[in-house]
Amino acid sequence: MSADATVLDGLFRPTSVAGLDLASRIVMAPMSRYSCPDGCPTEEVAAYYRRRAAAAVGLIISEGTYVGHPSAASYDKVPVFHGEALAGWKRVIDAVHGAGGRMFPQLWHTGSFRQSWMGPEPGVPGWGPSENLNAFTGHPEATAAMSEAHIAAVIESYARAAEDARTLGFDGVEIHGAHGYLIDEFLWSATNRRTDRYGGDRRARTRFAVEVVSAIRDRVGPDYPISFRFSQWKQQDYAARLADTPGELAEILEPLVDAGVSIFHGSTRRAWEPAFEGSELTLAGWTRKLSGRPVIAVGGVGLSRPGLGAAAPASLDVIKGPLERGEFDLLAVGRALLADAEWAIKLRDGRLSEMVGYDKDALAGLV
Ligand SMILES: Cc1cc2nc3c(=O)[nH]c(=O)nc-3n(C[C@H](O)[C@H](O)[C@H](O)COP(=O)(O)O)c2cc1C
Repeated sequence: MSADATVLDGLFRPTSVAGLDLASRIVMAPMSRYSCPDGCPTEEVAAYYRRRAAAAVGLIISEGTYVGHPSAASYDKVPVFHGEALAGWKRVIDAVHGAGGRMFPQLWHTGSFRQSWMGPEPGVPGWGPSENLNAFTGHPEATAAMSEAHIAAVIESYARAAEDARTLGFDGVEIHGAHGYLIDEFLWSATNRRTDRYGGDRRARTRFAVEVVSAIRDRVGPDYPISFRFSQWKQQDYAARLADTPGELAEILEPLVDAGVSIFHGSTRRAWEPAFEGSELTLAGWTRKLSGRPVIAVGGVGLSRPGLGAAAPASLDVIKGPLERGEFDLLAVGRALLADAEWAIKLRDGRLSEMVGYDKDALAGLV
């Protein structure tokens, strides 16, 4: 493990992005921790985030948190972002601010991953852009295609959550539009077979995401940061792609810029890999170039391999090229920060021998 001085310099200079002053360019990537039995973040959850804010992480994106519609939830112990849980979120943001950090909640709807036996309101079926997406979710139960009224109700739940985030004092919101969940199911041709205005070509498939962003923008005002996370890969299919060329990516990004996205967060498994044939630019680099918006890069930083298996600390020199070319504004780190609350400050201060690797045991508790 080594860290080139230019990399450290680039990452630990205070910066301003989308109107937010950040203590460093390191972002904690959103990571579900399944530690909220009633959907309400506990003191322990607040302390977990606070430890990262106190240790040189400039911006924290929360674990995915369900918007306030009963169709949004799938997995147990995931925090919700409505009702009584908002008091728990207030505790979280106050703790993070107390340590000098910044934080966005990541607003999540799991789409057709939901099955009607799942909590917290069993009986509510899963919804997706099209019916019967079982082949993609691996679940046995058929899910329902959303009507226009369903779409309007879910959009309202996003807008409401963002308004609540602003009221609680969060520094912005991130929309989870990645990894094969609801918004991405609309974006992806394999899961969006609609023939109405929400389906068809890439721009039409982006309409649902655009309406979510517009509704949030209307509610939070012109300057409140809205990050939009998207991905080529899906958890159902790592080789899936939304766009095969930069021009196709622009068809998705441009309407989202017009709708009011302030920051894009392109989720990849290795942040330094070229996004398209014939160019060395990464997904972050292309996204920045095509959208003109600040970008968060993510994937595999600080660890020897991607995925949930054991990974050892690894050099950050792989991101030197994209950093020097200005391909990203902020760099998100997931598993390395999950396993070690002090990962960023150890890196900054050259305490490299103290860094710990990642393995599945790290998922057991909130260290
Ligand atoms: C335990 C775990 C939970 C995750 N949960 C989420 C999530 O809630 N929302 C999301 O967008 N990505 C989620 N991810 C993906 C991470 O945000 C990140 O993109 C991924 O781990 C790659 O970054 P890394 O190599 O630095 O870990 C999760 C990853 C892990 C390991």
